[in-house]
Amino acid sequence: MTDALTESLTRDEKAAGLTEEQLHQLVGLVEYDEEQDVFPVTGWDAIVFVVGNATQTAHYYQSAWGMRLEAYSGPENGNRDHKSFVLRSGSIRFVVNGAVDPDSPLADHHRRHGDGVVDIALEVPDVDKCIAQAVSAGATVVREPEDVTDEHGTIRIAAIATYGETRHTLVDRSRYDGPYLPGYVAAESTYVRKEGQPKRLFQALDHIVGNVELGHMDEWVGFYNRVMGFVNMAEFIGDDIATDYSALMSKVVANGNHRVKFPLNEPAIAKKKSQIDEYLEFYRGAGAQHLAVATNDILASVDALRDNGVEFLDTPDSYYEDPELRARIGQVRVPIEELQKRKILVDRDEDGYLLQIFTKPLGDRPTVFFELIERHGSLGFGKGNFKALFEAIEREQERRGNL
Ligand SMILES: [Fe+2]
Repeated sequence: MTDALTESLTRDEKAAGLTEEQLHQLVGLVEYDEEQDVFPVTGWDAIVFVVGNATQTAHYYQSAWGMRLEAYSGPENGNRDHKSFVLRSGSIRFVVNGAVDPDSPLADHHRRHGDGVVDIALEVPDVDKCIAQAVSAGATVVREPEDVTDEHGTIRIAAIATYGETRHTLVDRSRYDGPYLPGYVAAESTYVRKEGQPKRLFQALDHIVGNVELGHMDEWVGFYNRVMGFVNMAEFIGDDIATDYSALMSKVVANGNHRVKFPLNEPAIAKKKSQIDEYLEFYRGAGAQHLAVATNDILASVDALRDNGVEFLDTPDSYYEDPELRARIGQVRVPIEELQKRKILVDRDEDGYLLQIFTKPLGDRPTVFFELIERHGSLGFGKGNFKALFEAIEREQERRGNL
């Protein structure tokens, strides 16, 4: 049995000053037998967004979310098609792309989907092994493995298709020490962090949820099982996550050590329109619904984010006053009034507890949003909060006229 926790961290994780112990705590890693892994994944590489205005979105992630700009590609260095800003917080890299050329395929993508995630890129030790496995399991290769080189070295890169128009780029950057990928130049933030604001508001990525069409959840669970050797972690169906109105079903797949976790949702039949249906309608199909970013101090992060104008879903006071909830969650690291003040949700399971909060949609369409999560032993997803969360989402859906 290989102890996956002794495996080395990605360079990004090391650069973020994360230790294995901290990462274990932040995102809830487990041990697994790496030797049996048909599709070894080291960790997240980058989350790539296409947006309507990358220049301003990059500013938003710096000014509101405390990220730092570290690389750039655009017309000034030969990329006449689009602007691309590479931003970092802890071990997470976001890449924000927006069309410059009106004929750019990104402009067309944005017209159809609005702001969204096009690529959930993963760092892997052996791109060719992954692609051979993916092909043998019937996946669609959208970029054949190739070496790309510049003065900083060589990356090995390929990509496979996943749900909707989303892809997983697979990158081996072990022979590369440039700021991101060949074609990018190092860049620095001109944005100056507010005095007193924490150095970073989140350290790592915990999970990314995919929304797929009615009847397709099991197909995509099967895809991750078969193509990428991911294991099933949890499932939430029926009463778990149904409210009187909208409902969904969800299953979670993860790589062997759970560093990469993908919950997959599909709408369930309910009295009114499911929040997943609303997403599918406005995203024009399947896509990434929310990104959960891990923090070791959700109270400080939420305070800073609110101060920067980020809007979160509301939680009614009755949630915190419910004696059943208070009995179930027991003792957490702060008095419950501190959570109530900030509308932070709390859930406990047999392994521990977690604190979490959800933002309103980030863009114009009711599609992609963020979750902040602070884990204390719990490996779950806040199942005990699903009802309160979905009722909050439904209040927003109603305000948008989409319930
Ligand atoms: Fe989540």
